[in-house]
Amino acid sequence: MLLHIPGVLSADQVADCRARLERAQWNDGRVTAGYQSAKAKDNRQLAETDPLARELGGLILDALGRNATFFAAALPLRIYPPLFNAYAGGQAFGFHVDNAVRYDRSVTPPRPLRTDLSATLFFCDPDDYDGGDLVIEDSFGTHSVKLPAGDMVLYPGSSLHEVQPVTRGVRMASFFWIQSMVRDDTRRRLLFELDVSIQQLTARMPDAPELIQLTGVYHNLLRQWTDV
Ligand code: NI
Repeated sequence: MLLHIPGVLSADQVADCRARLERAQWNDGRVTAGYQSAKAKDNRQLAETDPLARELGGLILDALGRNATFFAAALPLRIYPPLFNAYAGGQAFGFHVDNAVRYDRSVTPPRPLRTDLSATLFFCDPDDYDGGDLVIEDSFGTHSVKLPAGDMVLYPGSSLHEVQPVTRGVRMASFFWIQSMVRDDTRRRLLFELDVSIQQLTARMPDAPELIQLTGVYHNLLRQWTDV
């Protein structure tokens, strides 16, 4: 499932983050790429240990902690500390699949995280730059994603994806991975659709007796499929 989550960060938060990212210490993005993806990758990145990355990452994690849509869609078990990248002057990241397991080195000992879901949060508006589309291939076809600043896209970590060359302006974003309580994308999608239906029914008919049973079905499916 590919999901657009609008307004993860407010306009004020985005403006503040962006101003600070523009003054940040950017490094060659290839330092964190694997052998194969290094050949496709051409961008700049903040070091994982950069205090600014830690601070802005914390802001993003706080916002996600309050975002009901994110929780319902991702059913997060662990979230990798957000990373930050920038593309300009024709930089791009050709088609690749992200590593299946990442080690979170912000904790001791480093903790493995299975990348069930990938996330990209945009800090620049589509009008600020040309190119830079995030192109994602999944079982339903090819999707081109370029979202307003503050919005985020969630997509399966197993997807083949690329960032197309940025031919004007700068594209800054945060990217990270989520290990879900429900590993399988199809099951996670079913749970999300059931959850959304229950929320909509609750808003329309808060006293419907079927709600108790439907909510029970949701939790019992989650119990069957969860691995925590
Ligand atoms: Ni990637």
